[in-house]
Amino acid sequence: MTTRIPFDLRWFAHRGGGDAAPENTLAAFEVGFKAGFRAFECDVKLSADGVLWLLHDDTLDRTTDARGPAAPWRWENLQLVDAGSWHSATFKGEPPASLDQVLDFAARHAVWLNLEIKPNPGQDAQTGEAVARRVVQWLADQPSAQRPLLSSFSLAALQAARAVLDALQADVPLAYLVETYDAAALEQAVALGAEGLHTDWQQVTPAVVAAVHARGLKLRAYTVNDANQARALLADGLDGLFTDRLDLPSRL
Ligand code: G3P
Ligand code: MG
Repeated sequence: MTTRIPFDLRWFAHRGGGDAAPENTLAAFEVGFKAGFRAFECDVKLSADGVLWLLHDDTLDRTTDARGPAAPWRWENLQLVDAGSWHSATFKGEPPASLDQVLDFAARHAVWLNLEIKPNPGQDAQTGEAVARRVVQWLADQPSAQRPLLSSFSLAALQAARAVLDALQADVPLAYLVETYDAAALEQAVALGAEGLHTDWQQVTPAVVAAVHARGLKLRAYTVNDANQARALLADGLDGLFTDRLDLPSRL
């Protein structure tokens, strides 16, 4: 009998469970965990009444049975939407996840979280601030937990998170997300005191890996769904990757 060894922390299940479960739901995290993942990426935004919860898009249209912009929804109503049926009948009725539910999951299973701050339009700073505050509070209750990695495409969100972390003297890693890599993005990440830079896998070359490492940062890439690409990127020295394919790590 072979013992299943959990995947190393270079592998992040994208949006909780990749394409195997409805993104950004608790069911997705459970599926990702069962598949062997011990690092998880998800997208975090604010409800109208200030609850942090998981959704990728600005609207509810694609991944729930509700319609329209997400920003006006209160959490008590968001909990009632079906965020599972769009994926498959197996997940019918699965509600969206709150950040607190995901933090509970991380504490229970001792896994690592990458919380991508995905603000509703115009809520960049307040969302960055809220995520940083909640994570610092959680870490105070869970001193042995792996510190979540906070990332965002929004510099304003990251700067607001940084201000909170500095004010609270909290050591929580940040990563700047960019669709296109260039030297300016790298310097921006350095100026932010970020732990890493996250970018599209197609931006990654050995020279880019070397440049990022030379500035003391980690480089991670989204969304890698092909085994050959993953193998090549890791051989180039990439520090982490986000995948929708839960079978990919075992194929390398
Ligand atoms: O955080 C990595 C990746 O999730 C960024 O792109 O659009 O899937 O959130 P997106
Ligand atoms: Mg994301």
